[in-house]
Amino acid sequence: MSDSSLRARAVLLMERVMRKGQSLAQEYPLVFEDAFDGQVLAIEEGAHVRSACAVLTRDFIVGDVRVRVGLIGSVSTDPACRRRGFASRLLDMARSELARQGCALVLLWADDPAFYEARGFAQIGAELDFLLEQHHTALLPSIPGVRAMAGDDVPRMHRLYSRHKERVDRKLEESLALFSSPGMHTLVLEERGEIAAYACLGRGSDLLGAVHEWAGAPEHVLALLRVHLERGKQRGERGPLVLIAPPSAVTLRDLLRNRNVTESTGILGLARIGDPACATEILGRCSAPGAQFSLDEDCGQSQVRVRVKGPRGASQLSEKDLLALLCPARLDGRAIRALEVATGVVFPGLPLPLFAWGLDSI
Ligand SMILES: CC(C)(COP(=O)(O)OP(=O)(O)OC[C@H]1O[C@@H](n2cnc3c(N)ncnc32)[C@H](O)[C@@H]1OP(=O)(O)O)[C@@H](O)C(=O)NCCC(=O)NCCS
Repeated sequence: MSDSSLRARAVLLMERVMRKGQSLAQEYPLVFEDAFDGQVLAIEEGAHVRSACAVLTRDFIVGDVRVRVGLIGSVSTDPACRRRGFASRLLDMARSELARQGCALVLLWADDPAFYEARGFAQIGAELDFLLEQHHTALLPSIPGVRAMAGDDVPRMHRLYSRHKERVDRKLEESLALFSSPGMHTLVLEERGEIAAYACLGRGSDLLGAVHEWAGAPEHVLALLRVHLERGKQRGERGPLVLIAPPSAVTLRDLLRNRNVTESTGILGLARIGDPACATEILGRCSAPGAQFSLDEDCGQSQVRVRVKGPRGASQLSEKDLLALLCPARLDGRAIRALEVATGVVFPGLPLPLFAWGLDSI
């Protein structure tokens, strides 16, 4: 959005709807601070902003694969103008803009998924959720060197973050802004002058009670969880902590299972295909050689048709099929196996375990 007054008015609407007038900029610096790449999209009627949202293009890294994903956040319609189709139009605008920027997928997080599911979004990906209660404190290791994060820890935390196999690509300046999010308690474990691990609890009003971002060896992360539980109790927070982890965190998962911590598998978020050509190209990269992929451009963006041809036969994929192959909800591989059987094409690179750590959400 080039008109700075329109952007300012759109942000005011989002803050009124999402935060009772409080600022969103500190909570989501990559979107709302001028130094970063986020954009605000809005629909106006006369001189009034009726509906607005934030969009941000990010590169998700999964091992050697990079997937450009467009994030959509803070979707807000003026309460006096609801049910007139503004947010539906805005979502279409956001998707087109993000597709234009080369995003294979568009992704958002929503408390109430029904509105988005009715507009073509579907659940994708997975996260592990662990419920840590006060009685788990004594079962977690106590390791010296745990302290609250200090500002000059961030470059070393950023290096630790960058070792995650599944992550969103972040620049150091972005980490500097994100690690100073309001309402977040961040602990680090320092060993021999190095930051060996960190764990962030809470972030604004969206991730209350959640340890949503961490890095370091599993035993060290458990030691940080112990101190989070102890300090939470001192602050009078009696509720359980939820630890969010990527599905690949199997050692951490096993250590928590040994301590009888309740676990569940959630989803990463709600998504649609962004640019069908980019998504088809990723599907091809995840397949073994010998397959043919073609996109039916005539169907337009809303009706994707991808044709997959292999030694055993051909299949037509809709947008939803394509999404369910690339990054199915809870990484359920059934659709991938069915396509392999139908076409004889093997997809060793699927599913893609895309994962966003808590500070990446918008
Ligand atoms: C969720 C929200 C963004 C929807 O905005 P909206 O502009 O009212 O959305 P739309 O008008 O496109 O669609 C809303 C409903 O109106 C209906 N509608 C759309 N156009 C209509 C029209 N011309 N006449 C009557 N109804 C209409 C839609 O069918 C939809 O109904 P459904 O929810 O039963 O499917 C808005 O309620 C809001 O700002 N909520 C608070 C913030 C929030 O929760 N944001 C999401 C977090 S990311």
